[in-house]
Amino acid sequence: MLPGFSLQSLTQKKHFNLSTLNISPYICKTFVKTMELAEAKKNLNSIGYLDLKIPKDLDLIAEINKMRKEKNAVILAHYYQDGAIQDIADYVGDSLGLSQKAAEANADIIVFCGVHFMAETAKILNPTKKVILPDQKAGCSLADSCPASAFKPFVDAHPDHVVITYINCSAEIKALSDIVCTSSNAEKVVNSVPLDKPIIFAPDKNLGKYIMEKTGRKMLLWEGACIVHEAFSIDKILDLHKKYPNAQIIAHPESETPILKVANYIGSTSGMIEYAKTSDCKEFIVATEAGILHKMKKEVPHKSLIPAPIHQNVTCACSECPYMKLNSIEKLYLCMKYELPDIEVPEEIRKRALLPIERMLEISK
Ligand code: 13P
Ligand code: SF4
Repeated sequence: MLPGFSLQSLTQKKHFNLSTLNISPYICKTFVKTMELAEAKKNLNSIGYLDLKIPKDLDLIAEINKMRKEKNAVILAHYYQDGAIQDIADYVGDSLGLSQKAAEANADIIVFCGVHFMAETAKILNPTKKVILPDQKAGCSLADSCPASAFKPFVDAHPDHVVITYINCSAEIKALSDIVCTSSNAEKVVNSVPLDKPIIFAPDKNLGKYIMEKTGRKMLLWEGACIVHEAFSIDKILDLHKKYPNAQIIAHPESETPILKVANYIGSTSGMIEYAKTSDCKEFIVATEAGILHKMKKEVPHKSLIPAPIHQNVTCACSECPYMKLNSIEKLYLCMKYELPDIEVPEEIRKRALLPIERMLEISK
């Protein structure tokens, strides 16, 4: 930057007109673009993505497809992402499927369309690859409910306990764990622990309670929860069921106990899609984030999918994860173009976090 001039004043040509310096328009344009990129990089951590203008007439899907080839990138997306992102992804899945894909990825760049802990898990598993996330502010309320500063003393106070953590947590928390699990393998992971060993289960208390019932194992639970799944209203779900008495209720295990008690099927996002496909039932009340309906509708176009209602009196009956929805096609394009924001995990934490994730992958084979 020229001393004494801000980017804004330069680009608005308040102080001088670059064209009067007899510099070619191409060089002028390149100069302004370089300055804008420098400014966007400076603001990356506060904004979460590179806040740059995209030409209105640019075919973003074509550009993303071109960059995927040129840069040897693979796009992984979770079922809660916008439909347009799911449609352009190389693979769409639940947390376990996405971890397995990330671990085996040969591409130079893993573009993770999901939330931060998912991209971080990909980096832990495949550290030589560049892992990028369209918006690094795409966090998770469940992961936030378990900060390492509070979890470490809790673990230290129970040295005889096996520590099982749900994958929705930070790398620091994984580094304090013995085994990681997801919603699709939590029961298997808990059952892999010898019966005489006490267990800490964190951070999701709803999943923890559900697994305690399923396995009959008493576990010490962390009091974390997901804002999206805790928003479902059991009263409204039961009212809806009166209207659709033939519908089955299918729920994600992050939902609260009263909802899980009335559910006909409980499982991960992949499990719920599979159940809708294989069940004879023609109507489902779906208690998880609304993004799942995109894939479900494709899999069972002839079946009726009713989003479970939430407590709030809002016009949309469905529940959306505000973190997952921070990613967009525009941010996906920008992150692939500039390969930012990228995910880094300090090597000392990565190594300790890797072990419990690898144990989970081994148990899930
Ligand atoms: P799944 O692993 O079932 O896709 O769940 C991820 C998640 O964040 C649920 O809120
Ligand atoms: Fe986290 Fe809940 Fe969003 Fe899943 S739906 S990413 S658990 S906040």
